[in-house]
Amino acid sequence: MTHRKGILILLGLGLITFGTAGVAVSDDGDRNGKRGGWLTARADVAPVANATYGEECGSCHLAYQPGLLPAPAWAQVMDPAALGDHYGDEATLAETLRTGILAYLTAHAADQASEVRSRAFAVGFDAHAGTGLPRITETRYFKRKHDRVPTSLVAGNPDVGSFSQCPACHRGAAKGIYNDSQIDIPGHGPWKD
Ligand code: HEC
Ligand code: HEC
Repeated sequence: MTHRKGILILLGLGLITFGTAGVAVSDDGDRNGKRGGWLTARADVAPVANATYGEECGSCHLAYQPGLLPAPAWAQVMDPAALGDHYGDEATLAETLRTGILAYLTAHAADQASEVRSRAFAVGFDAHAGTGLPRITETRYFKRKHDRVPTSLVAGNPDVGSFSQCPACHRGAAKGIYNDSQIDIPGHGPWKD
């Protein structure tokens, strides 16, 4: 290893350490206000990195990042019978596709993730609660984060329709960026606390 390379690697490690600490203290972004600068561009939830998943599960809605639900929830969503009656729609898959996608979702699920925000989506999840399929929009963390958003901007908003349409309001949703500075609600604009 050259001397120069060694310094670059040390610098890189320093940045990674700094980045991790930055996320840890900002927790969910409320305590120390808006995250700015290069931290803003960091994904809150790891972006989708599986082409098959993106194609098969991203045609009707955003291919939700695996880190938005814990593994037991994905197992329920990906059950063969559940895919046949998928929130009122039909999303049946060939068995090899189904098992491949389930493996991807499980490996990167909220309870497996390193991102603080991702892990928050796993808190309090109970696989035996409720009768229908689990929803990201019904997790404790999601509900807490959206309880100040009035229905008139969601169900009553023809350009949104439901909370399941993350990209309607979160401009960076496809990249896993959900922080307040990248919100733009149709007919309303940016979100100001
Ligand atoms: C044929 C269209 C279609 C396909 C394909 C599809 N979905 Fe869906 N999905 C829906 C509909 C419709 C909803 C309900 C949206 C709503 O309530 O507004 C939904 C909801 C969801 C939700 C719950 C979102 C929430 O409200 O929190 C998850 C999770 C989900 N889908 C995952 C998947 C996965 C994983 C796949 C691939 C196996 C997939 N979907 C493929 C139509 C589809
Ligand atoms: C109607 C617009 C709208 C939709 C649709 C929506 N959100 Fe949000 N979201 C918001 C607003 C507004 C906030 C900030 C609320 C506040 O600070 O009180 C927010 C906050 C968040 C936060 C917390 C960000 C932070 O930095 O604290 C996350 C994570 C998040 N949303 C994820 C999602 C996901 C995932 C979806 C789709 C399943 C979604 N949202 C759908 C409007 C929306």
